[in-house]
Amino acid sequence: MKRIVLFASGSGSNVENIAHYFRDNPEVSISCVLSNKKDAKVFERCNRLNLNALYFNRHSFYNSDCVLNILKSLSPDLIVLAGFLWKIPDNLISSYPNKIINIHPALLPKYGGKGMYGMYVHEAVKNNNETETGITIHFVNENYDEGGIIKQAKIDLSPNDTPEMIAEKVHQLEYDYFPKVIEQVLMGT
Ligand code: GRF
Repeated sequence: MKRIVLFASGSGSNVENIAHYFRDNPEVSISCVLSNKKDAKVFERCNRLNLNALYFNRHSFYNSDCVLNILKSLSPDLIVLAGFLWKIPDNLISSYPNKIINIHPALLPKYGGKGMYGMYVHEAVKNNNETETGITIHFVNENYDEGGIIKQAKIDLSPNDTPEMIAEKVHQLEYDYFPKVIEQVLMGT
């Protein structure tokens, strides 16, 4: 049995999609969903989907081994950041080398780095009149959005696409690719 732990900060639509994907797979379980936002919609989803979910605050994340100890107790084969906005601290990176992956809603190295998240990414893509955008699934290291790339997928943009339309197209790509890539990485662990 392979175990996944998910981190999410917001709506959690990727968490839900990943949970659906693995629901009928007896080889893979989602041990827990961890979130840094008490009122994040992801908690409602976890409740509905019967997934364990835990909240942690900034202090316990950055100034203690609390989250590390939770992870140790869960023994994950893979840690997946699915819309998680905080930088991962060194104690977690060094404990789980090549076992933490993230999805970024653009074609890195473009539109990555600090402050480039959510709609800021899609607005920047729009403002630069890009003709394509996409997703990047990558390993997480100590720098934002800089770990080794596992998979990128692209979509074409039309000049009429608004940032909201771009976000929707990118989300669709995420739903199509992220669970499959997680499965592939997991099988290699
Ligand atoms: C996704 O676009 C993901 O790429 C980004 O944050 C968004 C999360 O969406 N890092 P959701 O919470 O899964 O709906």
